[in-house]
Amino acid sequence: MENIICIDGPGGSGKGTISQSIANRLNWHILDSGALYRVLAIACYNHGVELDNETAVTVLAAHLDVQFTLDDEKGSRVILEGEDVSEQLRTEITGAAASKVAALKDVRHALLQRQKAFYQEPGLVADGRDMGTVVFPNAGLKIFLTATADERAKRRHKQLKEQGNSVSIATLSRAIQERDERDRNRAISPLVAAVDAIEIDTTALTIEQVIEKLMLLVNERFAETEF
Ligand code: DC
Repeated sequence: MENIICIDGPGGSGKGTISQSIANRLNWHILDSGALYRVLAIACYNHGVELDNETAVTVLAAHLDVQFTLDDEKGSRVILEGEDVSEQLRTEITGAAASKVAALKDVRHALLQRQKAFYQEPGLVADGRDMGTVVFPNAGLKIFLTATADERAKRRHKQLKEQGNSVSIATLSRAIQERDERDRNRAISPLVAAVDAIEIDTTALTIEQVIEKLMLLVNERFAETEF
């Protein structure tokens, strides 16, 4: 059993916020694997590579020059080829493009070792779609978060509004369902709960309630570990 917590699930299930909070509490490292696919999508755009050109996207994936850094004022930043792409990274357009490149087999293969290399002592919280099924099958704890598509659209709407962007809930709900469908039905590493994952439906729960539940599981599962 490895000191790894996998938090998988569809977009808007709260994975990002929850993973960050658990990693902070434990003082463990974090892997936001979705950010890698998102950065790759931006690299495709910058280099004029079509999202379905598997050979060219795979070359970009293998040579992706990306850094995850922490800025004292702005918090965590993502730097692609020396340029701060943190804002562009979070848009719906980037998310949809990420979901397209993520469906390519050779691309996923090219990013596998890079994701595994995020593991460092004392431990790792890994957020994504296939953390528990493919990237870290020996993780000590696997969680699969879900929430209804409507609830996820509402959460995303609130988040965007806070950032000064207004998109209707109906548009967001459609985009979320489209992305879910592609992520769940792709041939390689589809979005699916690992057989040994614990599923938590977060629809009616606050972020704090989910974190509380998760911390109980963490303390139980890693009882021998000092945090
Ligand atoms: O979690 P996210 O919204 O940042 O992920 C963006 C897209 O990347 C998502 O639609 C599917 C893909 N993805 C993936 O296929 N595998 C992962 N481990 C993480 C993300």
